[in-house]
Amino acid sequence: MKVDLLQMVESGGCSAKISPKQLEEILKYLPLPKDPNILVDIDTHDDAGVYRVNDELALVLTTDFFPPVCSDPYEFGQIAAANSISDVYAMGGDPILALNIMMFPAAKLPMEAYAEILKGGFDKATEAGVRIIGGHTLDDYPPKYGLAVVGYIHPGKIMTNAGVMPGDSLILTKPIGTGVILAGHRLGMVSDDDLAEAKRLMKLLNKTGAEVMKRYNIRGATDITGFGLGGHALKMAKASKVSLIINMKEVPLIGNSYQLIDDGCIPGASFRNLDYAEKDIDFASDLDYNLRMIAFDAQTSGGLLFSAPSEKVENILEDLKTAGLPESNVVGSVIECNGKFIHLK
Ligand code: CO
Ligand code: CO
Repeated sequence: MKVDLLQMVESGGCSAKISPKQLEEILKYLPLPKDPNILVDIDTHDDAGVYRVNDELALVLTTDFFPPVCSDPYEFGQIAAANSISDVYAMGGDPILALNIMMFPAAKLPMEAYAEILKGGFDKATEAGVRIIGGHTLDDYPPKYGLAVVGYIHPGKIMTNAGVMPGDSLILTKPIGTGVILAGHRLGMVSDDDLAEAKRLMKLLNKTGAEVMKRYNIRGATDITGFGLGGHALKMAKASKVSLIINMKEVPLIGNSYQLIDDGCIPGASFRNLDYAEKDIDFASDLDYNLRMIAFDAQTSGGLLFSAPSEKVENILEDLKTAGLPESNVVGSVIECNGKFIHLK
């Protein structure tokens, strides 16, 4: 039996996240624990929580899991694991250990598919130097998979949404458009090349990009996932109390994603993301509809977005290219907060 996981879901990957508006509603009711050793919590909407063990060591904790983003079980496992581990890289940490989180409809799919998803996750974790030492499974439809990950970090070297400084430049390490490509794939409108490129990028660990960030002592960083480039940039701007100028014409796009918007390949998550962020965004009058929608396209296992002093940008881009991220680019800049958090050009 040939398994096609995409047959089982309406929207997979990070497009399946609940809307940022709903999340904000829910988090209001959740008290934040108080402890001087909690260095990062959900207050700044960061990628992971950070807890100080001693002056030399803090733990980075995160979890992500979602329904299938592709047909093949092994590839789905790889992508889900790369996405889960990414939040540790986005904080500047070294991922060390993980637990599997697995929901699988045992009566509807062959056990080989179950094993293939876990194998994909295991292989990607191994590539990242992460040991999977346990997990939890539920019988559930449609399948969902991801990891809970623990990493190490020095308490003085944490990168957060709150570390962005006026005067800095914004660098993005991977092209965007996975949401558009996957929506287009469902409608049979995406070329094999574009689909393969989107899958390659989703499987690509943010490890090498994070190594470059560490080399340059970056302090403001995140990864681009479910809330899209615009949504994650907004979280950074709010946490850092700055305004970000994002130049959409400088943002690298995957394959034909720009043209696919003309054909209506826009996942529902883009509208939810845009709806949430709109009030904090100043849209340039000449910004076209396609780029506006791509700015809020939910990414699965997207790249890193970080701020760096402008005089270091040239060297950083060179290092990112050498590290296998040739499409890395400066996509904007940071200014003092001037009313709107994001200026989208
Ligand atoms: Co993240
Ligand atoms: Co995440």
